[in-house]
Amino acid sequence: MIVEFVPAELRCEYLADPLGIDIACPRLSWVLQSAQRGQRQTAYQVLVASSEHILQRGEGDLWDTGKVISSDSAHIAYNGLELRSGQRCWWQVRVWDRHGVRSAYSPAAWWEMGLLEASDWRGTWISYDTKRKEAGLPAELETHDDASGLIPSPYLRTTFSTAQPIRRARLCITARGLYEARLNGQRLGNAVLAPGWTDYAVRIQYQVYDVGHLLRHGKNALGVILGTGWYSGCVGFDGRANHYGSRPQLLAQLHIEHDDGTAQIVATDGSWRATTGPILFSDLLMGETFDARLARPAWDTATYDDSAWMPVELAERDTTRLVACRSEPVQITEELAPRAIARLDADTHIVDMGQNIVGWVRLRMRGMAGTRVRVRFGEVLAADATLYTDNLRSARATDTYILAGTGEEIFEPRFTFHGFRYVEVAGYPGDLSADAVRGCVVGSAVPQAGTFECSDPMVNQLQRNIVWSQRGNFLSIPTDCPQRDERLGWLGDAQVFARTACCNQGVAPFFTNWLADVASGQSPDGAFADIAPLLRIDLGQDVSVGSGTPAWGDAGVIVPWTLYQCYGDTRIIAEHYESMARWIAYIQGANADNLWINRRGNDFGDWLALDGATPSELFKSATPRELLASAYYAHDVYLMARMARAIGRLDEAIEYEALFRASRAAFIKAFVDPDGRLLVETQTGYLLALGFDLLPSDLRTRAAARLVDLIKEKDNHLSTGFIGIGYLLPVLTEAGYLDLAYRILLNRTYPSWGYSISHGATTIWERWDGWTADAGFQAATMNSFNHYSLGSVGEWLFRYVAGIDVDPDHPGYQHVIIRPHPGGGLTYARAEYRSIHGTIVSMWRLAGNELTLHVTIPPNTTATVHLPVNDVSAVTDGATPIARSADVEMLPQTSERVVISPLQVKLIAKCAEVQAAAGSSSAKEGMTTSSHSFKAATTTC
Ligand code: BGC
Repeated sequence: MIVEFVPAELRCEYLADPLGIDIACPRLSWVLQSAQRGQRQTAYQVLVASSEHILQRGEGDLWDTGKVISSDSAHIAYNGLELRSGQRCWWQVRVWDRHGVRSAYSPAAWWEMGLLEASDWRGTWISYDTKRKEAGLPAELETHDDASGLIPSPYLRTTFSTAQPIRRARLCITARGLYEARLNGQRLGNAVLAPGWTDYAVRIQYQVYDVGHLLRHGKNALGVILGTGWYSGCVGFDGRANHYGSRPQLLAQLHIEHDDGTAQIVATDGSWRATTGPILFSDLLMGETFDARLARPAWDTATYDDSAWMPVELAERDTTRLVACRSEPVQITEELAPRAIARLDADTHIVDMGQNIVGWVRLRMRGMAGTRVRVRFGEVLAADATLYTDNLRSARATDTYILAGTGEEIFEPRFTFHGFRYVEVAGYPGDLSADAVRGCVVGSAVPQAGTFECSDPMVNQLQRNIVWSQRGNFLSIPTDCPQRDERLGWLGDAQVFARTACCNQGVAPFFTNWLADVASGQSPDGAFADIAPLLRIDLGQDVSVGSGTPAWGDAGVIVPWTLYQCYGDTRIIAEHYESMARWIAYIQGANADNLWINRRGNDFGDWLALDGATPSELFKSATPRELLASAYYAHDVYLMARMARAIGRLDEAIEYEALFRASRAAFIKAFVDPDGRLLVETQTGYLLALGFDLLPSDLRTRAAARLVDLIKEKDNHLSTGFIGIGYLLPVLTEAGYLDLAYRILLNRTYPSWGYSISHGATTIWERWDGWTADAGFQAATMNSFNHYSLGSVGEWLFRYVAGIDVDPDHPGYQHVIIRPHPGGGLTYARAEYRSIHGTIVSMWRLAGNELTLHVTIPPNTTATVHLPVNDVSAVTDGATPIARSADVEMLPQTSERVVISPLQVKLIAKCAEVQAAAGSSSAKEGMTTSSHSFKAATTTC
């Protein structure tokens, strides 16, 4: 039931009740619900109080905005009394509706500040030198080799007493490496692989846990297991370890407040004790070996005797910034039961999880002490039904469990993850049954935002594959792939996929966090690196990770722009504005004539396109590198102009606008002949020229026609790589070739998304030819089956097929564009998107020549609805002719728009054109040329 027009879903910095915010003026948002069409907010009042009690009295002792005449309901920046470390802020909001009627206050929400000053941290970094010999440890521990990064996981603990009643207690904790924290035998929180990956030389995230309920009167024990993780384990290419340091370290601080107002702090210091235990090593790429015989039962409880443990080593804190975790932690987000289990031979089972996932398996077993169970992971099977692991390169991806022989044992690794659909289990004692195996799906716990479905099962599978690749590769940072050695935050992949990512999940905090590493990875002369976070030992070495690469470095501009568009977030622009401007200046510094010809970094081009000169040169796409670079440069400049305007830097906006015009002219002069033909014709060349609006209008039609010719020459197939693919279907649609766009979408023959799906893909492949019937697997040196880049078609499904889009002039879906594009023989499509203003739905159904469109937009928003019809007089809003609908405003025909007021609208149109267009291939018959538009106000139901 909807409570009439009361603000709900209160968020602070996009998060619900976040613990640990270190932003001085956090931003507040809410959504509105209403059953009335056209309902909107005309004013709001926010109260922020220092206690729940004060808030309940209707007072905001920290901040009371009073009645603010405004329709804003997102990104309201806190502007009250200065907040101190650890302060909890309770808040609520009420609004006034379009008739000036005041709502009740929302339920209370809160956020809590983290540690704002470096001096708030009392402890020192502590670590344990696992090279020390300890009596009774097995040979594996004594032969470990530091350079490999494969070291036993340190166990660290301390005890402390509390004598007085406790009001509250918070543990602030982080690691150089990974940690799992335990208090009095209980694991803290659900996060795994914490504190997450950042450039540890620059900033390290910490998490805050509310632990008051776990503390006991008397003696308590705090214990932490450390892993090497991204800090000192194997990361990137060739299994190289120790990128940021050589040994994991812990920094923790437990702050206890007693009822009488006194405080007690327990921090990492020389009193902690350390040892190693059953985790012989646990490495992100290599896997984990766990010898259960070495378990230390109850090691994390107060009564445990740690007298045989060793003292820890101390390291003074340096100036590395400690920052509160800005986004959702990595967690187990789902558990899957196996689809099938086959016995390969007497010793080996192959488990099919039915889905290519990222994470690990949890195994249940019973057996003799010392029994070794080895678990290996692969994305696909070889022709002989054995596990295919060649494409993992140096990543061993092997977990080993050595049984203690104590009855039922459960193994689940701690500081590793794998990319896999198939699991090879060797040495399992007995028959492996399905209920003994669980696939743990691991990734950043970002909320789902969008769903898409339509009448074509193959397209629905494509959408699922995109989402699974996003879930697997959005793991602390956006990675390229989850299975082989590498797993890096490649900027190119992130920028091509960012918009699709926003359609599927609420990724604003996730990208905001990652962008801090993009910015800190920028070179002093302004070049964005190819990856973020940087790998410190690679810097200055001759490795393929560089900087200043066209379409990769540009992520530094495109990702903030995308967040601005999808969330209306201007703070992200302001925070990154200088760094973006330096990137533009970096390109300008080495180039004349407003082109990007010189200094092009790694110059990957249209990575993995299929139009290279020879099959062995598959990286070498035919699209000229100068064209690609210059197109991106012009596009960046265009986005800079828009972003400068959005944050009120008008003089610079005007300069960038002029620069864009000059770049466009230079592009045309350098790469386009007078007939609108590119001097070197490729699909991606045309897609960039059209997608970035680099051609004059009189040449656009001809350029689009040439693009279509090139596609037809390939028998209506694509040939683009990472860079072109995201623009392919949008550009064709905008140019009036909707039917061809659908045709490419629905292809099942090679190369296409459908080809991979026909051959069992459950995630997006890195390469169109990852596996082909003719050639089998692509070269194992680079062949991931879980790379999201080619899944950037997802945004077309939302924005064009279902038709939910942002109005670039009203970012953040404050004014929504609904522009469905029925076609391709689909009989229905439906997308739902949880925007920062509330839920938007666009659903169309085609029956004969009748198109029914259901639209829902949240209160306090409006939408422009474009209908693919010629004759608006036949359109009804429910039973009412559209022209007479109270909440629908017909826009002039020339504007091709209609604006509806919010809420649920059901538009029915008789439109023969839709049917015709479904099978047609010419621009003339395309629907976008004949659309009518309406404007409507919000509704709810
Ligand atoms: C990665 C890509 C990345 C590329 C650079 C590859 O190894 O997997 O996704 O963008 O290198 O071209």
